[in-house]
Amino acid sequence: MNKKIKLCPSILSADFSQLGDDIQRLERAGADMIHIDVMDGDFVPNITIGPPVIGSLRGLTKLPFDVHLMITQPDRHLEAFRDAGADIITVHAECCPHLSRTINRIRALGASPSVALNPHTPAEYLRWVLGEIDMALVMTVNPGFGGQTFIEAMYEKIGAVRALADGVGLPLDVEVDGGIHAGNIERIIRSGANIIVAGSAIFRAPDMRAELDAYRAAACAAEQNS
Ligand code: DX5
Ligand code: ZN
Repeated sequence: MNKKIKLCPSILSADFSQLGDDIQRLERAGADMIHIDVMDGDFVPNITIGPPVIGSLRGLTKLPFDVHLMITQPDRHLEAFRDAGADIITVHAECCPHLSRTINRIRALGASPSVALNPHTPAEYLRWVLGEIDMALVMTVNPGFGGQTFIEAMYEKIGAVRALADGVGLPLDVEVDGGIHAGNIERIIRSGANIIVAGSAIFRAPDMRAELDAYRAAACAAEQNS
């Protein structure tokens, strides 16, 4: 099933002393959404930002905020993230013993629910919630840090998640996150992903717009060759 390709830069690699400026630079460069990584120092080793910072950024752009919660107890904080301006809320399956309840709560708050899987978590974990989510996030590195290397085995996993959704006729968004750059996007999209998160590759590029243009060119090539 061909879904619209969206580019979703992660601000984890931004300059945190000027996050607002960096988000507006991303918008001018052609980003479709802003990916915001929330880490609690428990589920992942790193600690980043929470609802107050997201709330302070909300007025600076009209782009949707795609909030990736890498926290052990997401249920406690869903309302605060929604109030701060999250449009998509992604929880990790590994953190949610009552996943369906968590998903339904996100929907009831008016946000779009999404579930992330760590690299070793089977695609089949999504099977019985597929009809309840708008997006699945396939982690292509072990979460916690920017700048890691894409795990090659994840091409097959992206395909497995897409096949699960196609198998029940659902137009699921499949997002990928970690180690993504112009050189691997074509194969990632051919494998079945359509929402592309990238952090370090975008922020270290000399020209952010040229970098995002290169991703769109790779996406076009993937669509033509599939
Ligand atoms: C990693 C985060 C990612 C991170 C990706 O745990 O979820 O969103 O920002 O960074 P890069 O693109 O540098 O791998
Ligand atoms: Zn992320």
